[in-house]
Amino acid sequence: MAIVISFGLQKGGVGKTTTTAITAFILSKTKKVLAVDLDGQGNLTRMLTGKSKNSFEKTIYDVLKAVNTDNCITVITDTLHVIAANDDASKIPGLVSSSKEKQRLHLLKLSIESIQEEYDYILMDLPPALAEQTLLGLTASDYTVTMLQTDPFAFHALDDYLETCQIVKEAYNPKMKLAGILSVLLNSRASLDQSILRKVRDDYEELVFNSVVKRQARIKEFTITGISDRTKADRKALTEYTHFVEELIERVEKS
Ligand SMILES: Nc1ncnc2c1ncn2[C@@H]1O[C@H](COP(=O)(O)OP(=O)(O)OP(=O)(O)O)[C@@H](O)[C@H]1O
Ligand SMILES: [Mg+2]
Repeated sequence: MAIVISFGLQKGGVGKTTTTAITAFILSKTKKVLAVDLDGQGNLTRMLTGKSKNSFEKTIYDVLKAVNTDNCITVITDTLHVIAANDDASKIPGLVSSSKEKQRLHLLKLSIESIQEEYDYILMDLPPALAEQTLLGLTASDYTVTMLQTDPFAFHALDDYLETCQIVKEAYNPKMKLAGILSVLLNSRASLDQSILRKVRDDYEELVFNSVVKRQARIKEFTITGISDRTKADRKALTEYTHFVEELIERVEKS
């Protein structure tokens, strides 16, 4: 039975998609993974498939419309599959409001129910806003991971996201847990970054993953070229994420 993990924060450009994609890539070396793009920007789709979001006939919108994943899954490798997203995601709110009251925010959960046995992990990339996709994703999640980018506005975004999670938990998905807070895009030499990291560790204690992901040119390149572990430099760039994935597995499989 797949463990469903969403990656979210109501703030743009903080590394949600990069983290979802690299986590899916690393996990797929030893586990069977389905990555679900819930953001109409289609960045996860592009990063994992190498194709434009406009080249997909069936996307997450079609999954939710049919309430199943039939013919909507793109196979990248035997152990890494993707459900794409494109501009059709803008029709998701309408779909949610026109569906039966009992289904509404449970639509995604219901849609993936029949394939849960086929995967070890289902990872979901959430959009940067409190859109229906975010609520659908959280309602379908066993765990959520959020990001802390070390900028002074990050705390507000973190508090907002934790509040959203609490609302979804109470109203739709009582068993959902916060797997943790990952610090990303850290400038290792900047003292402001270090002091923000210290503050978040003081405030959120063991919820903060020990692993941190620093700003690295190679990771940025992966966004454009796709993720690779072929060269030594690639593997070095993935080291911090490899540690994060080990920590994540430990938290979600042992709890
Ligand atoms: N560790 C890193 N080092 C360098 N650049 C990074 C790193 N992580 C992410 N980036 C870059 O930061 C930008 C934002 O990352 P990403 O798209 O993953 O964020 P996001 O939170 O998903 O954004 P959005 O809110 O728009 O969906 C991208 O250009 C990405 O290449
Ligand atoms: Mg994104």
